[in-house]
Amino acid sequence: MTTADTIRDSAPGATAALSGKKVVVVGGKTGIGLGVARSARAAGATVVVAGRRIASPQERPDLADVVQIGLDMRDEAAVRAAFDGIGAFDHLVVTAAPDLGSWGSFMDADMRGVRSYMEGKFLGSWASARHAAPHLRAGGSVTFLTGGMAVRPKIGFAAVTAAFAAVEALSGALALELAPIRVNTIRPGFIDTDMWSFLPAEQRDGLRTQVEATFPARRAGTAQDIGHAALFLMTNPYVTGAVIEVSGGENLVPSVS
Ligand SMILES: NC(=O)c1ccc[n+]([C@@H]2O[C@H](COP(=O)([O-])OP(=O)(O)OC[C@H]3O[C@@H](n4cnc5c(N)ncnc54)[C@H](OP(=O)(O)O)[C@@H]3O)[C@@H](O)[C@H]2O)c1
Repeated sequence: MTTADTIRDSAPGATAALSGKKVVVVGGKTGIGLGVARSARAAGATVVVAGRRIASPQERPDLADVVQIGLDMRDEAAVRAAFDGIGAFDHLVVTAAPDLGSWGSFMDADMRGVRSYMEGKFLGSWASARHAAPHLRAGGSVTFLTGGMAVRPKIGFAAVTAAFAAVEALSGALALELAPIRVNTIRPGFIDTDMWSFLPAEQRDGLRTQVEATFPARRAGTAQDIGHAALFLMTNPYVTGAVIEVSGGENLVPSVS
């Protein structure tokens, strides 16, 4: 585990607001999902994190206070079985997404890349909500995760923009269809997690420097910032059908690259 994955338990706004509640975070073992899991734990919830691989206690001693379950969100039968196994719970947060680089460019020779990305990000979010919904207790919520590219496309990332926009549209549709279960989406900007470790160190540092110079918040986002927003969405009983941009003001400045 690296520094970027280390989330302090003293998340801003942490209270006992989720005492007695159970929260499931699909993608909660790393990065943004781990920030959400840590915020929920700090607020008193029992937390289940789901991902394709279960980490051993030796590998991830920091996960000792959460329950891990194995789940590949592209496999609907596995998603259904996982939620049937979890049983009743209160809040679902889906942060998982296919690995960076797994989407297809628009002009690829065939559409395998985009099909695979949509299968993971869009249909995986759909399947998670679909098979979690029957188990959500009264007062429960679903929170999805997209990114700034939902509304600020970049050349070469059409599949990401399309998948994020589809998830945001689904979020609004489900706020109606699953009501009174609340359904919202967090749209992060640049969040400094290990997702960016595919970049050479020099390039990643350059990106951080650009963000610090241009974003109104004057720093890169952290998983803890998203955890704080997720806690708000889980606990505010009157927010539904919302897309919340948590991007340090990235939406107001020219895009960094
Ligand atoms: N970081 C940013 O700057 C940023 C900005 C905007 C939007 N986002 C969005 O947020 C997503 C997550 O970002 P992150 O920084 O948290 O990335 P991350 O650290 O790479 O986390 C991805 C998580 O998803 C899980 N996962 C991947 N495929 C899965 C599958 N098929 N089924 C179940 N779980 C799966 C992974 O666990 P396993 O490997 O165990 O499956 C991992 O825990 C991104 O992909 C993107 O959609 C990120």
